[in-house]
Amino acid sequence: MMNPSIQLGVRLQTLYELILDRQRPTRRYDQIWDCCCDHGYLGRALLNANCCEQVIFVDQVPHIMDRLADRLRTVRSGFQLITGDAGKLSLASEKSQLVILAGVGGEQLVEMLIDLEALNPGASVDYLLCPVNHTRALRQYLHQNPQRFKLLHERILCDRGRFYEVLFTTSHDSSVTEAKISLCGEMWDFSLADHQTYHAKLLRYYRARLRNDPDGLAAQALEDYQSLNSITASDAPSR
Ligand SMILES: C[S@@+](CC[C@H](N)C(=O)[O-])C[C@H]1O[C@@H](n2cnc3c(N)ncnc32)[C@H](O)[C@@H]1O
Repeated sequence: MMNPSIQLGVRLQTLYELILDRQRPTRRYDQIWDCCCDHGYLGRALLNANCCEQVIFVDQVPHIMDRLADRLRTVRSGFQLITGDAGKLSLASEKSQLVILAGVGGEQLVEMLIDLEALNPGASVDYLLCPVNHTRALRQYLHQNPQRFKLLHERILCDRGRFYEVLFTTSHDSSVTEAKISLCGEMWDFSLADHQTYHAKLLRYYRARLRNDPDGLAAQALEDYQSLNSITASDAPSR
């Protein structure tokens, strides 16, 4: 699915395609929140695709939002700009919402989710999450809250030599019943070179953290990731 006017890198293009794939004529998001939007590339591509009622751009840095307002000055409608903390958003409970949180650290992302969930306990919300690091912290939080975060899709992607995990979750899609998010992910396919490389990186990272691991979290993570080695390509789910 090409996006005609804005050139997105591999990571943002992947998020864009996942969002468009999830949209159906009978199930369109009312609002898509491009949180921590910075340049707003993804939200602007979604705005161009005219795929929801409104795209809401959120970033906490005023000059970033001023620059974005300038870039959007020829666009007449279909968007809103909010300068503020993405964790403090009020999500209308009667609307169907997608909240995108990408390009920030996993621990920071968890803090935003905790705040958002506390402020909007009944909201029908899908989340598209793609942290730049500490994905395990994110997975731990999602794993502990299975009622609010059911897995729609997960994948590993590599963009300009950096690896990312993407997690697409839903709180309300009744067709998704048993989809508790796992601590390591179930998207591994060790026949793929990228997955092998990312796996090796994770093992190196958690081995290095064993030197200072008073709570044993790195040791547990290492053990979990090592046990993935026994999953072969043919066992790996094709999500
Ligand atoms: C690296 S950019 C990510 C841009 C885009 N989301 C992406 O994935 O390419 C990170 C942005 O997050 C914003 N940010 C960080 N914490 C935030 C928060 N709590 N609320 C709103 N914006 C935040 C920063 O100001 C910065 O512009």
